[in-house]
Amino acid sequence: MLVNAERLTTTLRALARFGLNEDGGVDRASFSSADRQARTWLTSWCEEQGLQVAVDGIGNMIVSSPELERGIADRAPVWSGSHIDAVPNGGRYDGPLGVLAAIECLTRLQEEEVSLERPVRAVVYADEEGNYAHLLGSSALARGFTVDELSALVGRDGDRFADTFTAAGGDLLAAARVRLPQGSIHASVELHIEQGPVLEREGLDVANVTGIVAIGGGTLRFLGRADHAGTTPMDGRQDAVLAMADFVTRLPGLAREVGDTSVVTTGIVKVWPGGSNVVAKMAEVVVDYRDPSTEKAAALGDLIASAAQDAAHRRGLQVESHVEPLIPAAPLHETVRQAIQASVQAHGYSSRDLPSGAGHDSQNLATLAPTGMIFVPSVDGRSHSPAELTHDADVVRGANVLLGTLMRLAAAPTA
Ligand code: GLV
Ligand code: MN
Ligand code: MN
Repeated sequence: MLVNAERLTTTLRALARFGLNEDGGVDRASFSSADRQARTWLTSWCEEQGLQVAVDGIGNMIVSSPELERGIADRAPVWSGSHIDAVPNGGRYDGPLGVLAAIECLTRLQEEEVSLERPVRAVVYADEEGNYAHLLGSSALARGFTVDELSALVGRDGDRFADTFTAAGGDLLAAARVRLPQGSIHASVELHIEQGPVLEREGLDVANVTGIVAIGGGTLRFLGRADHAGTTPMDGRQDAVLAMADFVTRLPGLAREVGDTSVVTTGIVKVWPGGSNVVAKMAEVVVDYRDPSTEKAAALGDLIASAAQDAAHRRGLQVESHVEPLIPAAPLHETVRQAIQASVQAHGYSSRDLPSGAGHDSQNLATLAPTGMIFVPSVDGRSHSPAELTHDADVVRGANVLLGTLMRLAAAPTA
């Protein structure tokens, strides 16, 4: 059985309209108006296919087929999902591919009236790209958030999660109650673009993902003193920008010290009060660091924290840090990997195993249920950029592998 290639590629282009900017990139931060419009469109699209959409307390959307679920709705389901929020000026495939392919698979199963042992559901996870917190929606499912934790979240634009979320119709108490018990999901599988160069370079169709990196992050705020830019001697300053700069330039060396698989990124910096003739009183930097080993990522986090203290003290400043809980590395499950491999072989596609350096909701799902991921090639390995592209033929091959995998997982005996 195959997916409907025309329908899938058309819906991918349709979803890309929401938040499309003049660069050809997508600005669709979670809970923004573009995100809300995309969700409304997606809900109508699902309903037109005869599918039903439920939304949980934090905004994860769960799509089901009442027709396929007759008599089996209370069994632990197989989930397949990804996200539709985007990084600033992001691409058109990171997330939407996995969501729309899962919906396409569900539609095909329904059209063919395939008899299943357990439900298959397509899922849209909220705020995967961490406007407010990395993998927010799936973290809420896997480990839960308290109302206080949710109230403390601040977005990239400085807005409070609580304000934006409630303005979008959300309820913090409900958001704090979405955690799922173990055993509530039978298995999970996500289709995603590779976001790197390996599959294209090796001329392969798909990858069967072996595991996902550990991700740490946090905000470091250097506290200095505002002074006049013309009258304060260079050696009499407590310049928050210089302390932050000293710190940032040390980071690549710290990653190398931990190992050649470690990476660290500082994609957001802010300075106060922000006058060209004022020595900065405060400078803030958001750090993202990763390694395939949870222990190495934790070690890198410790080095980063002490480097921040060191950079501040050398210039007579203080530093405040807000550290996000480390998201552990997730090895993916053999049972799901075997189902993926069987589907790849049945379609006659070429494949290899590959680890993921990008974060995915699947690393949270892996703490709840056996989980796997399928990658398809990214042109030039580009992602998190308007240059992100995956050819239609690869989109369709990936979705066909997903369909075969879901059928295998949902047909497994219930016992
Ligand atoms: C998501 O794309 C991430 O890797 O942060
Ligand atoms: Mn991404
Ligand atoms: Mn993604």
